[in-house]
Amino acid sequence: MNMIDPRTQILVVGSVNMDLVVSAPRIPRPGETIIGGRFDTFPGGKGANQAVAAARLGADVALVGRVGDDANGRSLRATLQQAGVDCRYVRTTAAAASGVALIVVSEAGENAICVAPGANGQLMPQDIDEAEALLAAARVCIVQLEVPLPTVLRMLELARRHGVETILDPAPVPAQLPDGLLDVDILTPNQSEAAQLLHTDVAGQTSYMIANQLRARGARAVVLKLGAQGAFVRETQVADHVPAHVVDVVDSTAAGDAFTAALAVGRSAGVALSQAARFANAAGALTCAGRGAQPSLPTRAEVEALLSSAAL
Ligand code: RIB
Repeated sequence: MNMIDPRTQILVVGSVNMDLVVSAPRIPRPGETIIGGRFDTFPGGKGANQAVAAARLGADVALVGRVGDDANGRSLRATLQQAGVDCRYVRTTAAAASGVALIVVSEAGENAICVAPGANGQLMPQDIDEAEALLAAARVCIVQLEVPLPTVLRMLELARRHGVETILDPAPVPAQLPDGLLDVDILTPNQSEAAQLLHTDVAGQTSYMIANQLRARGARAVVLKLGAQGAFVRETQVADHVPAHVVDVVDSTAAGDAFTAALAVGRSAGVALSQAARFANAAGALTCAGRGAQPSLPTRAEVEALLSSAAL
């Protein structure tokens, strides 16, 4: 029988990866070998990053995901639990190794990522069905696209049925978009994801135009992640640019995950989307100031301090 935690506010469905990270002067070109610098291993995965980010920001959060029956899986689960994430629905599978991401981070803090999904590819619609009671008790649920699309669609379907607000972080964008994928309450792409979703070059288009096109594809609200330009919020009657915070960028890995998680934290507290986007923008900026995915995710106090200093 499913145990319902009535305190669960945010449910995340998504990937859990071990990130293997090489720091390098720049991102190598195709076919090129370059000499990098230090090598680190960090807990990552877009789903796990978002769950840990929401927990650090004070939310009660549960994750639905899969890890392999291996050392990475045990380590990743332990990190999630230490962060306070409810891992009852993070299943261990013997069918595949835990997900791994190979990441190169440049001196400018940019990254290139290639994921071997492994156990993430074993997350099935049935896993969502098993967590239905937890999903129904959540205020907001988040999903990204590093797990099988039928699983994503099942989560969206059940969330709609239970009246739970849905946030889709469309990363990475699949080659084929299944029907219903963008039928979400809030869509949070970055600029390149927005271009991929629209199958068009968005250079020269305003954020307003891009967001309107995404809304026409089904998303009720769009929050564009614009990196050094901040964010843009578009929903009925609202078109709002959220200015960026200036930070020394060390590594932008998981900045988008922190943004989406913070947006969910704001929404689960009943905050208007524009206000939640300001909170999210600060969380994303702070994440760029540290190395690695989960180690760089900020606490609520850090986000509030940045927002207060920006308001002075
Ligand atoms: O968004 C960053 C994450 O993408 C990394 O932690 C990596 O695991 C990939 O999932």
